[in-house]
Amino acid sequence: MPVSRMLNNLQFQMRFARKALRPSTASLCIQHQKYRCLSTSIQRLKEEPKAAHPTKHESRPIRSGEPVAEHVKEDESKRAGLPEEPMEGPPPLFSSSTSHDSETTAPLAPLPAQELFSLKDRTILITGGGRGLGLTIAHACLESGANVRCMDLLPEPSQKQWLKSKLYANKNDLEITYHYLDVTNKIQVEKVFKHLFEINDEKKPIKGLFTSAGIQIMMPALEFSIEKFRKVIDVDLTGTFLCTQSFAKNFFKKNPNLNVDNDLKKQASIVMTGSMSGHIANLGIECVAYNASKAGVNQLSKNLALEWSKKGIRVNSLSPGYIRTALTAAQLNEKPELNEIWLQGSLLGRLSTPDEFRGPVLYLLSEASSFMTGADLLVDGGHCAT
Ligand SMILES: NC(=O)c1ccc[n+]([C@@H]2O[C@H](COP(=O)([O-])OP(=O)(O)OC[C@H]3O[C@@H](n4cnc5c(N)ncnc54)[C@H](O)[C@@H]3O)[C@@H](O)[C@H]2O)c1
Repeated sequence: MPVSRMLNNLQFQMRFARKALRPSTASLCIQHQKYRCLSTSIQRLKEEPKAAHPTKHESRPIRSGEPVAEHVKEDESKRAGLPEEPMEGPPPLFSSSTSHDSETTAPLAPLPAQELFSLKDRTILITGGGRGLGLTIAHACLESGANVRCMDLLPEPSQKQWLKSKLYANKNDLEITYHYLDVTNKIQVEKVFKHLFEINDEKKPIKGLFTSAGIQIMMPALEFSIEKFRKVIDVDLTGTFLCTQSFAKNFFKKNPNLNVDNDLKKQASIVMTGSMSGHIANLGIECVAYNASKAGVNQLSKNLALEWSKKGIRVNSLSPGYIRTALTAAQLNEKPELNEIWLQGSLLGRLSTPDEFRGPVLYLLSEASSFMTGADLLVDGGHCAT
């Protein structure tokens, strides 16, 4: 609003306040205070330079002439230090909390930093858990203390890695189990998720889902058959949605009265594998359906976060860059020149291996990311930076 109009407004309000002062003696004090406030505002506006056009805004000088933050005072003798808690403004309390002890005002604060990433005393579900990224994350979840349920289309998981994980689980009194699942089959998805929630040990509640099931088809857009296009979207996007939907339905059924303000430790986290291909078109490969499906996954996480975060499920996506797995091996086999093209795009000058996603996924699944939802974590060796 231009200054002249603000002045007019204030002067009008002042006349009103003056009028109100005359007949009423009961509210004299309050009205008098209002009157003084308005006078001061008018005085200030008169003194201040006219506001520039918003696009040419110049910073207004600080009234006191002193730096605003105490700690930047140059005179050491005047250093008062910052208050531990903000003295003004809304307190950092949760909306429904009335207590002032730190357990309720910051429920995760007592967790030591090294336990922030722990997944102990919970169960994590993983789609695409038969090999590649999914199975690597499954092992990382075990090492972090969780029971794990892997689901995949493969008749059995990749044996070498699976036996290693089984052995680790047995030694550490943990469980890892394998369940056949086609993520595109709605009836099957509903059945498997319902079953997993029903049989689950109450002492280790299901609190996480990592979706890794995905396929990639390399084919120029002009030749892409509609069947193949639909197949990619069906597995990568619709399959991801079906699994997250079933997870959420069962989780909310099990946890109907979650107080999202205070029960931070009881909340769940969904991490969906998107891809940097959801952000860019990859040089050297034609994969229009895959990239569209992964862009869909990245967006899906935002919408699900909007709907579920306040009910107790955080939802985020992970966008990996190139990983050395069976999926990329097939592409490199077909087009060996891709290796050079991909290396040129990486600021780190290399492709990644599945183990490098353990940190990011544990972070997203655990309480370490308690204030993160509706976000996409891009872990691409700097590929998208250029
Ligand atoms: N490898 C990469 O460079 C790369 C990069 C970015 C994102 N990703 C994504 O990471 C995830 C894992 O890929 P990966 O590299 O480990 O490949 P992968 O092929 O080794 O693993 C994918 C898994 O998904 C399973 N799967 C496929 N269709 C399924 C279905 N209908 N139902 C259930 N399971 C199904 C496969 O059997 C396989 O075990 C995928 O979503 C992929 O798009 C991979």
